[in-house]
Amino acid sequence: MKIAVVGTGYVGLVTGTCFAETGNDVICVDIDQSKVDKLSAGQITIYEPGLEKLFIRNVREERLHFTTSLEDGIRDAAIIFLALPTPPGEDGSADLKYVLGVADHLGKIMTDYKVIVDKSTVPVGTAEKVRQAVAKNFKGEFDIVSNPEFLREGVAVEDFMKPDRVVIGTESERARKVMNDLYLPFVRQGNPIIFMDERSAELTKYAANSFLATKISFMNEIAQLCERLGADVDMVRKGIGSDDRIGKRFLFPGIGYGGSCFPKDVQALARSSKESGYEFKILEAVMQVNEVQKLHLLPKIKRYFNDDIKGKRFALWGLAFKPNTDDISEAPALYIIEALLDAGAEVCVYDPEAMSNVQRQIGDVIHYAENQYDCLEGADALIIATEWNEFRTPNFLKIVTSLKNKVIFDGRNLFETQAVQDLGFHYESVGRVTAFPVK
Ligand SMILES: NC(=O)c1ccc[n+]([C@@H]2O[C@H](COP(=O)([O-])OP(=O)(O)OC[C@H]3O[C@@H](n4cnc5c(N)ncnc54)[C@H](O)[C@@H]3O)[C@@H](O)[C@H]2O)c1
Repeated sequence: MKIAVVGTGYVGLVTGTCFAETGNDVICVDIDQSKVDKLSAGQITIYEPGLEKLFIRNVREERLHFTTSLEDGIRDAAIIFLALPTPPGEDGSADLKYVLGVADHLGKIMTDYKVIVDKSTVPVGTAEKVRQAVAKNFKGEFDIVSNPEFLREGVAVEDFMKPDRVVIGTESERARKVMNDLYLPFVRQGNPIIFMDERSAELTKYAANSFLATKISFMNEIAQLCERLGADVDMVRKGIGSDDRIGKRFLFPGIGYGGSCFPKDVQALARSSKESGYEFKILEAVMQVNEVQKLHLLPKIKRYFNDDIKGKRFALWGLAFKPNTDDISEAPALYIIEALLDAGAEVCVYDPEAMSNVQRQIGDVIHYAENQYDCLEGADALIIATEWNEFRTPNFLKIVTSLKNKVIFDGRNLFETQAVQDLGFHYESVGRVTAFPVK
């Protein structure tokens, strides 16, 4: 099949590459000339495990192309995927200017039947708006499909190649068949392609992300309670997670959710709910809890240093909002950095993939270390903000010799409390007792 993917970011590049991998001819369109130049030259623009290999193979075998011209991109395409940004507008609702702008443009340049597929996360009713925007100028036949994307950054290729489910919202039999044929290679293990109406498909994506964010905020509140009541959140997590009705996943407490999806999607669902006349009370609480949780370590840090961290130097491990990605949108680490700098502290950071994105965003107000151990030199304490695997079993001897004080504030509960206590650390984590060094 000939496919156009409009928007070549995290979702568009993975979508385009994975469709090319199953033999389709794909053209990815982006307005960012430098991105298209790089991709056309065979250079990948995001860090996503496993993507580069597929990307290089499909570019080499000429199934994957890039252009800045929407017209060239869609000319021969039977299906056009929209993988465009839907950032929060001023009131928290999803800003549809990119999606509707492209829809409007499509109406002006389309000459034959196409299936236009919305892969961006969009509020209920957007498919109808896209239909109207295209129909304003194009009088021929076309179909709109809502096909929300559930991939997770960090495992996006795996998620795309073997999705738990594919959700397709359409009332058109013709589009349904096209989409079914396209996705069949991805569900050979028997996972379902779930067909539904457009509005339900649009809401399914928001409901999924909001439910997961709720699970995170719920566990973070349990962790708060554990700290106050002297319980251990790891035990509580295992205790409840072994119940099939609850499940083991997404029960890890930490310093809040971030990324380019959960914060904006929870906010957008709360907003569209309000607009429909219903106040989604749980979501308001989920957001409030997350705001507080992002800075959960700060009072602990200040308490340890008797409320005076001016001039202190902190080593910070982890900048990405989660491991295995270079995405720093709404990353808790950025909030911690800001709070530390505001209090007059110095910060030296290390992240395996996200350093250049942070440097681009906040510049040289912090130090960027070559590796996780250089980062510790002369620091008064270590703070951990992202659970990269390489931080899980570090060389504690190096930590001890580099840090000024044996102090760790761990926002991701990477270590066994007893083990670090035995090594002589003062160790504070989330929802567990503080480990004071054994004298
Ligand atoms: N990132 C994720 O993990 C994820 C997962 C599921 C769904 N989504 C949703 O998918 C959508 C895209 O997200 P993303 O993370 O890929 O965004 P992104 O910011 O990484 O990529 C968007 C791309 O669109 C391009 N673009 C903007 N305007 C354009 C235009 N007029 N024509 C062509 N290209 C244009 C940008 O240059 C950018 O490269 C959003 O709605 C998001 O909520 C994201």
